[in-house]
Amino acid sequence: MTARDQLRGGPRQATTGARIALIKGDGIGVDVSEAAMLVAEAACRQAGAPALDFDEIRAGAGYFRETGRDIEPGGEVRAGNADAIFLGAIGLPEIRHPDGTEISPHLRLRDRYGLYAGIRPVKAYPNAPQRLADPRAAKIDLVILRESTEGLFYSAAAHGRAQVIGDEEVRETLRITRATTERLHRFAFRLAGKRLAQGKRARLTCVDKANVFTSMAFFRKIFGEVAAEHPDAEIGYNYVDAQALDLVRRPWDFDILVMENMFGDILSDLAGGLVGGMGMAACGEIGDETGLFQPAHGSAPDIMGRDEANPLAAILSAALMLDYLAEKTGIAAYAAAGGAIDMAVEAGFAARQLRPMEFGGDMGTRAVTDAVLTRIETPEQSLAAG
Ligand SMILES: NC(=O)c1ccc[n+]([C@@H]2O[C@H](COP(=O)([O-])OP(=O)(O)OC[C@H]3O[C@@H](n4cnc5c(N)ncnc54)[C@H](O)[C@@H]3O)[C@@H](O)[C@H]2O)c1
Repeated sequence: MTARDQLRGGPRQATTGARIALIKGDGIGVDVSEAAMLVAEAACRQAGAPALDFDEIRAGAGYFRETGRDIEPGGEVRAGNADAIFLGAIGLPEIRHPDGTEISPHLRLRDRYGLYAGIRPVKAYPNAPQRLADPRAAKIDLVILRESTEGLFYSAAAHGRAQVIGDEEVRETLRITRATTERLHRFAFRLAGKRLAQGKRARLTCVDKANVFTSMAFFRKIFGEVAAEHPDAEIGYNYVDAQALDLVRRPWDFDILVMENMFGDILSDLAGGLVGGMGMAACGEIGDETGLFQPAHGSAPDIMGRDEANPLAAILSAALMLDYLAEKTGIAAYAAAGGAIDMAVEAGFAARQLRPMEFGGDMGTRAVTDAVLTRIETPEQSLAAG
């Protein structure tokens, strides 16, 4: 039985490691989450970290088609009881609720567990596609910090909060609260401290539309208040429309961009496109109690079942999860495991051993996963080969 088959349902050893609620979901979500967990398990073994203990929860559009439910009974509570949640992708465009919206139980998880801090790292890897001709694009290494529980998504359809006036008008609510915004900005400044400790730049930019919306002026005001607690931090402000322009014009000048939910939803895809595509877009959504980690892409029905999906967004999300688990459990070996994954991806690209089909390469989901696994399991040999 290959390691891959084992993850699909073979026997597992009982462990005392961190407990992961695993929601594979739909389409390529199943393949990339299995790939990511294989890599996370290998990295934990190599780093001497306690083995992860999985609790698989069925959810998604396929599950909804079978059962009429979007997540299995008790699944939301079990997800919250784990140390972290890992999700592949949820949704299939042909399966919808009567109002036309898609199946999205993960939005309720965000809401229920207050997963306000949405981290989306955007990093240029060597030999991965650079969509900008300017050579400085090789230096892109920024994080979009997207508030993930309120903003305009406060009235996302899954929450049933839109005001529908017959067939004539629909009103949505954009909500900014002091409590969540303070937590978000504090998280941003902690992240800046972490980046500085890693020898990276850490200028914080508050991205908003404070010139037009009272809610956004409030968001900016709270950023200023939290910034005042960090007099040494380097900070700046940008309106979201100018930020869209600047992400194309000079993305290498930015480090941490903190913003409202809908702005982050849009700009993180744009930024992901700058360094390749959705197959590189990792994501963590972190609250005060738990964190949910998932690739930022969807179920990609156009390529599902063909072993073509790039698993690296999911694999890099697993690295974010391990870093989070280290902080949560105090087990430093989890951080070492996460770091080993980041290094394997960086070195794999540098040595041209990672050539995802998404970028015109010859490697499908399994081949990319195997290449990362080999780098992690035998770093010396990989170095020699590279
Ligand atoms: N968080 C989530 O679970 C999530 C996020 C976005 C979309 N969705 C759902 O996914 C479904 C499809 O949505 P979509 O088509 O708008 O977005 P998508 O991200 O699934 O796909 C967009 C495009 O990017 C490509 N792509 C995405 N991930 C890739 C990968 N890892 N490797 C190679 N190519 C990749 C796809 O082939 C497609 O061409 C919908 O049902 C949507 O609601 C779910």
